[in-house]
Amino acid sequence: MFIAANWKMNLDKKSINFFVENLQHYKFSENLQLCIFPPTIYIDFLSKLLENIPISIGGQNCHHQSFGAYTGEVSATSLKELGCDYVILGHSERRIYNKDTNENIKKCSQFAIKSDLKPIICVGENFNQRNNGKAIDFIEKQITDCLPEEFNELIIAYEPIWSIGTGKIPHKTEIREMHENIKEIVFSKSKKNVKVLYGGSVNEQNILEILSVNNVDGILVGGASLKIKDFLAIYDSAVKYLQKKYNF
Ligand code: PGA
Repeated sequence: MFIAANWKMNLDKKSINFFVENLQHYKFSENLQLCIFPPTIYIDFLSKLLENIPISIGGQNCHHQSFGAYTGEVSATSLKELGCDYVILGHSERRIYNKDTNENIKKCSQFAIKSDLKPIICVGENFNQRNNGKAIDFIEKQITDCLPEEFNELIIAYEPIWSIGTGKIPHKTEIREMHENIKEIVFSKSKKNVKVLYGGSVNEQNILEILSVNNVDGILVGGASLKIKDFLAIYDSAVKYLQKKYNF
């Protein structure tokens, strides 16, 4: 089970310090992987604070070249150097505000893999596509176009755009159907299995319902990962869910 905390362009040194202070003596479960995606500028800062805490760090995006005249960009190799293990690619906010394309996301994912980072590729339909019964076709195209040529370990995050930051989540059957489809699409193209995370308005109240859906391998949390109390409430619920399910 994987929990990804996407801080987006939020928090500062003071609030990050406070967040990590509250993790210092926490008892973490070995059955749950945690990764925080802070703003790029705080990766190094957070990485030092997390030195003795079993939480990985990731970048929120990366470029597909190591170096070059790309003002404002961050390379996968630099992320790796700062201690990142993962990188989010193709988040809908980047697709909308920064015009990230499937083609570009594919290039970045290939370069991330070469740089020894594990990509988390985000896909998700908008409200009209969901309402018009076009969600599955749309996601199939996104995956087909973004999928790296070669990979060993890949994570896909299914994040319906209409669910991000809105408090609305799809019906359990819609999540199940989409996650199943995503796994089938990837397998048919690569003969590889992928983990699929659900993202979009995950919180303490709905986490158990989401985790109970077949083929949900974890979650990508935005807003509810910014406050330590909410973050730990989600984490604890996930641990309890696993303990009950697998009896450990
Ligand atoms: P949210 O964001 O949890 O605030 O809806 C999720 C995301 O954008 O990854």
